[in-house]
Amino acid sequence: MPIRIDKYIADALNVSRKQARILIAKGRVFVNEKPLFDSGTNIEDSVDSIMVDGQKINYQKYYYFLLNKPAGYISAKTDDKTPTVIDLFIGYERAELFPVGRLDKDTTGTMIITNNGLLTHRLINPKFNVEKEYAVTVNFPLKESLIHDFLTGFSINDEFMTKPAILTIIDDFHARVIVTEGKYHQIKRMFKHFGYEVMQLDRVRFATLSASDLALGSYRNLTIEEINKLFRIVNL
Ligand code: URA
Repeated sequence: MPIRIDKYIADALNVSRKQARILIAKGRVFVNEKPLFDSGTNIEDSVDSIMVDGQKINYQKYYYFLLNKPAGYISAKTDDKTPTVIDLFIGYERAELFPVGRLDKDTTGTMIITNNGLLTHRLINPKFNVEKEYAVTVNFPLKESLIHDFLTGFSINDEFMTKPAILTIIDDFHARVIVTEGKYHQIKRMFKHFGYEVMQLDRVRFATLSASDLALGSYRNLTIEEINKLFRIVNL
C-alpha cells in the first residue's frame, strides 16, 4: 500500500514523525538507491527499497495472506485448547494477524488473514456486499425449489431475513451458494431451515480470491493487484 515516507520511517524506526522528517531532510533516507528529500512522497512499502544511513529497512506494517483453512482449526487469534488459524502463521507473531471473518472449525477453504483492521471491518460488513461462495454437500437430494427460496430470502428462527443468495445445484447432494453476508453458521442454518444437514462445507471464494489451488493449511501473500482490488471493492 502507498504510505508517506515520513510515516513509514517513523513506524519502521520507532521515531516521531518530526525526527523522521529531519532524517529525510538531511538526505539520510534513500528510496531505490536515490536520496529522497520530500517527506510528503508516497512510497510502496512492498515494492520500493528503502535505506537509512546505508542500512536496508525491512519493515512491513500490513500483511495480507490467502489461506486454505484446514478443518480442525478455529477462526480466532489464540485459544488455550484448540489450534487456531493464526497458529499456522509461524514467525509472524509480532504482526498481530487475525482472520477476516469466521469459518466454523469443520469448514475448510478460502480465508484472508491480515493485520489491517479497517479493511477487515469493511470486508465483513454486509453493507459492502462482499461475495462469499461455498461448495456444500448435504445429506439428502436437493430440491429445485430451493433456488427460488434462496434468491428471495427467508426468515431464520425469526432472528433475521437472509439476503438474496444464489444457489446452483450441481447434483443431488452438491451445490454452490453465493452469499453476501456472514451470520453465525449462516450456510448450515440456511439449509437446516429446509431440513437439510450440511455434511461438508468449503469456501471456494471470498470476494475475488480463491485459495482452492493451495494445499489445505498452506498460505501465500496476496499480490499488490489482489490487495488493491480488495480495497476498491470496499471503497478504500
Ligand atoms: N456458514 C456456516 O454455516 N459455516 C461456515 O463456516 C461458514 C458459513
